[in-house]
Amino acid sequence: MLVNYDTVSASDIYKLMSQSVIPRPIAWVVTESNGVVNVAPFSYFTGLSSNPPTMLFSVGHKSDGTPKDTLRNLRETQKCTVCIASEAQLEQLHLSSKELEAHVSEAEHFAIPHTRPVPGYPPMIEGAPVAFFCDFYSEVDLGESKTIPLIVEIKSQFVDVVCITDEERMTITFDPIARIGKSYAYLGEERTPPPIP
Ligand SMILES: Cc1cc2nc3c(=O)[nH]c(=O)nc-3n(C[C@H](O)[C@H](O)[C@H](O)COP(=O)(O)O)c2cc1C
Repeated sequence: MLVNYDTVSASDIYKLMSQSVIPRPIAWVVTESNGVVNVAPFSYFTGLSSNPPTMLFSVGHKSDGTPKDTLRNLRETQKCTVCIASEAQLEQLHLSSKELEAHVSEAEHFAIPHTRPVPGYPPMIEGAPVAFFCDFYSEVDLGESKTIPLIVEIKSQFVDVVCITDEERMTITFDPIARIGKSYAYLGEERTPPPIP
């Protein structure tokens, strides 16, 4: 089957892409505005470059057409903390995707514990194996699109010591959650690459 994207609806394109470009990592993004801690997951997410250390996640709009809180807060404060959730945090991560009013904190509403290891940046979710403390870098212009890809620059990274398997070689291991379509997946077994002759 060959699907010409000019002939299918935006929702079918979403279904096709989100089940084909897989597995997607999930950015569990914490932002703040006026003391309200906002938490939300985003799976149109990837690393861009290690130099400068940058990542990208795409944020859409709320059902009423206004920018999602994450987008608004990032534009306002220029800061975000991107956590990577472990398998044990699946329920908290999923709950935090609920569309709440801007003045309501997902962290408070769902009792998601958080802690602030880096002053000047939003808190990270307690128990996350990894978190990145980031400055807003730029937005990607996709014309009329209501989805805005946001580039953020990593200024520091937290790694839970229990995930560090070899400190000298900077080797870390944990159990992340991925997204496939609208489902979740765990990574399972890692494979060593075969030698290239
Ligand atoms: C696992 C998961 C991944 C998601 N990925 C995205 C995404 O890439 N982009 C997006 O706009 N919304 C995504 N969502 C929906 C947002 O999390 C949801 O709209 C959330 O309410 C946004 O919160 P905010 O208004 O506090 O920023 C995802 C939801 C889930 C459960």
